[in-house]
Amino acid sequence: MSSSPQIDLTGRRALVSGGASGIGEETANLLNDLGASVVLADMNADALPAAAKRTGALGTVDGDVASSAAVDRMVADAAAILGGIDLLFNSAGIGDDLVPVHEQSPERWLRVVDVNLKGTYLMCRAAGKLMVEAKRGAIVNVSSIVGLDAFPGRSAYGVAKAGVGHLTKTLACEWGNMGIRVNAIAPAYTRTPMVQSLLDRKIFDPTLIENRTPLARFALTEEMAKAACFLLSDWASYITGVVLPVDGGWSAYGAAGDVVKIRTGEGTSAN
Ligand SMILES: NC(=O)c1ccc[n+]([C@@H]2O[C@H](COP(=O)([O-])OP(=O)(O)OC[C@H]3O[C@@H](n4cnc5c(N)ncnc54)[C@H](O)[C@@H]3O)[C@@H](O)[C@H]2O)c1
Repeated sequence: MSSSPQIDLTGRRALVSGGASGIGEETANLLNDLGASVVLADMNADALPAAAKRTGALGTVDGDVASSAAVDRMVADAAAILGGIDLLFNSAGIGDDLVPVHEQSPERWLRVVDVNLKGTYLMCRAAGKLMVEAKRGAIVNVSSIVGLDAFPGRSAYGVAKAGVGHLTKTLACEWGNMGIRVNAIAPAYTRTPMVQSLLDRKIFDPTLIENRTPLARFALTEEMAKAACFLLSDWASYITGVVLPVDGGWSAYGAAGDVVKIRTGEGTSAN
């Protein structure tokens, strides 16, 4: 039980997938600030050296999380650099093509599920083996608000992120008595390169999103990193199997129309 008045990850060894960008990079940065030793894993080998410099990471490993062989190699190499793995943050992910099922390419659908769901499974499996041996560890996976409710045009991503939530709960139940906690965050819209490219291509309308969000803005990557580091730390020592919405109230809101209209008296929450 931690008696520290602040989150302290001194001596913890952390592996962060998707660590070369966005939420993964920001979380790696905060893990490092809180005292952990960090290795970044990412498919974008070119981006890794600069991300390691920005985050203070001890090392990097590159490969595709959807490949079992690559994951086994990345986890073994990261464990060799760090001397073991206590913490795992699974942020590697890709978006989908935002078209209804009858217009989707099955190949693209499967790739989105492979990276987001199979990739999370393989990383948990490989790092989890080391944690089971050590009888301690904490994992945080990344689901999404799209994994909590249905978003038309996003069946691959939604299915994958719902699967990440279910996998998280299953692993928490399998590994709880071995000293390993497994949780997930479910972010809403966060301004990262992934979301910025959708905004730039006018696939997302920022005003629609802000008007539907009780906190009336996009999330900051730091806000995801803080939630992830809390769940990875001893401050969350009795929390496992949770899929925590970090969503500005998005998943709490259920009325018709925009929340902004209700706030200004133009709408009604009665229906
Ligand atoms: N940004 C958001 O609004 C938002 C909302 C909900 C959930 N998420 C989830 O958060 C996570 C991080 O997203 P982000 O917005 O920071 O995206 P990002 O694109 O900025 O970062 C994702 C990183 O994952 C890496 N990656 C992608 N495919 C990979 C693969 N097959 N193997 C290894 N690495 C791979 C990319 O190279 C990149 O560095 C993703 O799982 C995403 O689905 C993001």
